[in-house]
Amino acid sequence: MSAPAIVAVRDAFSRAPAPAHPIAIALLGLGQIGAAVARLVHEGHAPARLTTALVRDVTRTRPHCGPVDLTRDIERVFASRPDVIVEVLGGVEPARTFVRTALERGIPVVTANKTLIARHGEELLDVAVRTLTPFRYEASVLAGVPFLGTFAARPLAARVSKLVGIVNGTSNYVLSRATAGRVTIDEAMADAQRLGFAEPDPADDVNGIDAAHKLAVLAWHFGLGSLSPGELETRGLERLHPLDLAAAGDLGGSIKPVASIEHTSGRTSAFIGPAFVPGGHRLAGVTGVENALLLDTSSGRLFFSGPGAGPIPTAATILDDVVEASRGAAPVRRRGGSTAVIAPSTPWLLRVAGTQAGGEDIASFLGAYGIWVRRAHTRDGRTWRLTYACSRERIDAAVAALTAATACDALALRALED
Ligand SMILES: NC(=O)c1ccc[n+]([C@@H]2O[C@H](COP(=O)([O-])OP(=O)(O)OC[C@H]3O[C@@H](n4cnc5c(N)ncnc54)[C@H](OP(=O)(O)O)[C@@H]3O)[C@@H](O)[C@H]2O)c1
Repeated sequence: MSAPAIVAVRDAFSRAPAPAHPIAIALLGLGQIGAAVARLVHEGHAPARLTTALVRDVTRTRPHCGPVDLTRDIERVFASRPDVIVEVLGGVEPARTFVRTALERGIPVVTANKTLIARHGEELLDVAVRTLTPFRYEASVLAGVPFLGTFAARPLAARVSKLVGIVNGTSNYVLSRATAGRVTIDEAMADAQRLGFAEPDPADDVNGIDAAHKLAVLAWHFGLGSLSPGELETRGLERLHPLDLAAAGDLGGSIKPVASIEHTSGRTSAFIGPAFVPGGHRLAGVTGVENALLLDTSSGRLFFSGPGAGPIPTAATILDDVVEASRGAAPVRRRGGSTAVIAPSTPWLLRVAGTQAGGEDIASFLGAYGIWVRRAHTRDGRTWRLTYACSRERIDAAVAALTAATACDALALRALED
């Protein structure tokens, strides 16, 4: 941990009114994030103490965590009479059962678990509202950028109609690195792993599943409805070629891992995946592991950016939540209800082998499918076409026909409007 990070955390807490006694925290999980929480508490950066920590392996030494009582028994955790339980196990079960039980017993809960909130946030918040028990999940999305709690406390400002962002730092790093270094996605991912920006198994970052869970949390939090991450259009980075990234640059933009959801005329549309971002867009300058979110709200357009993960930023956000939860602020019910999500009409960036298909110019070929080309670029025997907005059905039909006509894979990526 760098010294400035410690100072920033200490300063932040020194400005908050100190509770009368150290907040007793029980940790569910003492992995990357749990250990960082324990370390900040042990080093005195938060007005808190640890009672106990639930882990799988009680025999393993936990460096930098300070003295902590390890257990595999959840009842022993409850018996330690914590003021707040911090859930950093990850996954759905047993996290869901443990969090639900804690809330039923009136013990405040803080979690960083996006999978849990995406799948069961509404159910758990219902329990918290019924039992008047604080329940906070600020670190589950854009972990180092505290903003969810701000909006929860300001429902008028939180009337969001559209949300577009970069919510996965690993894939943003990989695309930034692959673009700058003209290397493949696999080579850029190897760099990310070497630098500690990616897990040993980065599958959920690459295939977009991590971003789908975060988008589901955001949609629910901002009242755009409860949606199942599995139903969202989710594309991964796997099929991108270094030439796609170079062509995007030649067309005045870049390819970034975008998550987008919009509610208009009673319909919700969403997508997740690598998308062409024009050079003038607010997301264009968001590079490396940085995360960012652009919100269209009733008060205007808002932009948030910063670290989306990492043990220390995440642990600091969790400890801020702990302080808030210990003050007993009752949770607020969100507008819920399951939502059917459609695929939006957007511009597309289309890659095709060659400049002709079925004896026709590509632009004429696409015109037969009602797809109109805005800009074109040719490089190394491939052609890229930036189109005007059209539906996914049209583009899928055109891609299938282009693949058949050229006997080469065509690739379609969504593109953001300027
Ligand atoms: N890593 C990040 O930068 C980041 C950022 C924001 C949010 N998060 C979220 O924070 C959560 C934790 O992430 P992490 O990276 O800290 O995970 P991790 O390193 O895999 O740690 C998980 C911890 O939970 C314990 N555990 C797991 N299943 C258990 C079970 N059934 N019973 C008892 N203990 C169990 C493990 O015990 P052992 O130690 O004995 O194996 C370990 O201590 C996840 O929900 C993640 O999405 C992570």
